[in-house]
Amino acid sequence: MTAEFELLRGVRTVVADPASRPEAIEADALVLFLTEGGAGTGVCADVDRATGGLVARLVAAGEITGRRYECVPLLGPPGLHVAQLVLVGLGKREELDAGTLYRAAATATRHLSGKARARVALVADGTWSTRQIEQAVAGGVVGMVGQDLYRGDKKRTRFGTTVWVGAPPEAVERGILLGDGVNLARRLVNTAPDDMYPQTFAEEAASVAGRTGMEIEIWDEDQLARQRCNAILAVGRGSHRPPRLVVLRYRGPGRTDDTPDLALVGKGVTFDSGGLSLKPSDSMLTMKCDMAGAAAVLGAAATIASLKLPVHLVAAVGLAENMTGPAAYKLGDVITARSGTTIEVHNTDAEGRIVLADVLDVVKGLGPKKIIDAATLTGACMVALGYDVAGLFTNDQPLCDALAAAARSVGEPVWQLPMYSDYDDQIKSEVADIKNVGEGRWGGAITAAKFLERFVGGIPWTHVDIAGPAFAEKTRPWIDGGGTGSMVRAFVEFARGT
Ligand code: BES
Ligand code: MN
Ligand code: ZN
Repeated sequence: MTAEFELLRGVRTVVADPASRPEAIEADALVLFLTEGGAGTGVCADVDRATGGLVARLVAAGEITGRRYECVPLLGPPGLHVAQLVLVGLGKREELDAGTLYRAAATATRHLSGKARARVALVADGTWSTRQIEQAVAGGVVGMVGQDLYRGDKKRTRFGTTVWVGAPPEAVERGILLGDGVNLARRLVNTAPDDMYPQTFAEEAASVAGRTGMEIEIWDEDQLARQRCNAILAVGRGSHRPPRLVVLRYRGPGRTDDTPDLALVGKGVTFDSGGLSLKPSDSMLTMKCDMAGAAAVLGAAATIASLKLPVHLVAAVGLAENMTGPAAYKLGDVITARSGTTIEVHNTDAEGRIVLADVLDVVKGLGPKKIIDAATLTGACMVALGYDVAGLFTNDQPLCDALAAAARSVGEPVWQLPMYSDYDDQIKSEVADIKNVGEGRWGGAITAAKFLERFVGGIPWTHVDIAGPAFAEKTRPWIDGGGTGSMVRAFVEFARGT
């Protein structure tokens, strides 16, 4: 064995010696990835030879197709030293990318973690790039973790030891740190809203900061008042859990100057009842996910710091609970945000943009070169793009293009929506500078982005609406229903190119 990582508490990952042959591996399960019709090449061919051509026969018989995320366990395979061989499909070879590998590896480990396993080996094909290997390793880490936070009888057990064969140790280490960041974001989202509220989220951020050596500042309600953060305070007033604003700062090796390269900003509404513009019960059910933007920012910051990337990063999240208590903010209220801009409240359920108004203003004051925010901001974005695709909105096309490229390269689909200045008229108010909803509901994702744009000054900025992809209502082969860790991998990939 050439390397061993104990990066995730209690979970061991080892990298097999480059000279070790997969057919000689001893394990409870050996995972092989195969493309459509690709059983006859590379590692697959070697393992198949050891089994006396078993895989080739199953492929010829059409029992194994190699289609994406197909997962076929073969118990007691002849000629190998494993209890089972698991064949996971990757789809067409020409279409193979890092995102497919992330999901395929997660499919395999999700399947196998349904039972306790001491030792599971996965084989990286010699044709995969380093980036692809990292994403496969990350997927393997994510698949082993499910929705067990509140279950007595756990449905997933992480493997005692994971062995990666054919992968460079550095890529495996980076993949584990990526998967860990995704799982952090997922856990924060999946935690029940009565356990994950502004104060407890801030405590999680403090523990991440301590673990990864980031500076942290937490503003409580008094500090928020001193800082004139009336917008975030207004949204939080309906709850007995007071709001918080958290700013983390990470300076990579060689970065001593005061100008952050990048600020990541997250919406952290720990529960969105809609406030007095109360949501119907069905729409409210999943609203613990309304802090997924903040979770993505914290997960990405944790990974960026653990990877020791050479960037100067600011990560800021606005944390509030949108409730209907006696002090709740009301329709017709006019809020003076920290920037001085006045906001007329037309709908208390359009609270995310109000929270972000103050966070963006605080971040603007730190003078970053670029700002990216993530928010479960609008149902309208899901109407436009569905569950799996995040919406992008920008005041700076090159920044948006770079972020889109980073996201797509790790398999996180994104699509840009327009920001024509005509939309600005829709958030004009009769009594204040702006109002918090557009005229009617059409183009609601864009009017929300237009509102945010008012608070970033001229700094290059891209807003990512993750209302769809942040939370999976159904279980997929590669992930249990619930928080997905959307944008953690995209943000880390973007920061690597910064
Ligand atoms: N948190 C919601 C958006 C949302 C909807 C996230 C579904 C995830 C899934 C946001 O605060 C909200 O309620 N937006 C309103 C805005 C409207 C009142 C202008 C919406 O989208 O309906
Ligand atoms: Mn809302
Ligand atoms: Zn919301």
